[in-house]
Amino acid sequence: MLSMKRVITYGTFDLLHYGHINLLRRAKEYGDYLIVGLSTDEFNWDEKQKKCYFSYEKRKQLLEAIRYVDLVIPEQSWDQKVTDIAEYHVDTFVMGDDWQGKFDYLRDKTSAEVIYLPRTAEISTTQIKADLRQRRK
Ligand code: CTP
Repeated sequence: MLSMKRVITYGTFDLLHYGHINLLRRAKEYGDYLIVGLSTDEFNWDEKQKKCYFSYEKRKQLLEAIRYVDLVIPEQSWDQKVTDIAEYHVDTFVMGDDWQGKFDYLRDKTSAEVIYLPRTAEISTTQIKADLRQRRK
């Protein structure tokens, strides 16, 4: 339905953790339908120099099992946000505040509202990986 408020967010969501769940829950509160642009393995590697533990298909399955998530689409380029927002009739674009300011240009290029949410303290995929590596020593 077009009257539904649609929200979009982007990310890698590898080794899904409570920081991710918190972000998705608060993103969903801005509307009725939450779309996640999930970074593909290629995009992660080529653009973010990140190697995922879980494959795109596994990360997608995990996100689809979250009650706040309505649709998962692949994120394959930095530029697709403008076209995604138009194509999916997105009202609100949400990101964690590690990206503060980075997507302000969408306010001019799209009709979406741009919101940065505070990250959950003391948890990240990078931290989990580092802790596990440390424990093995
Ligand atoms: N996020 C958050 N709080 C955290 C970790 C992540 O709100 N503690 C948010 C990010 O701001 C982003 C989304 O969750 O909007 C996806 O983040 P992602 O980069 O996939 O997760 P990180 O745990 O930050 O992964 P990494 O350490 O690899 O950057």
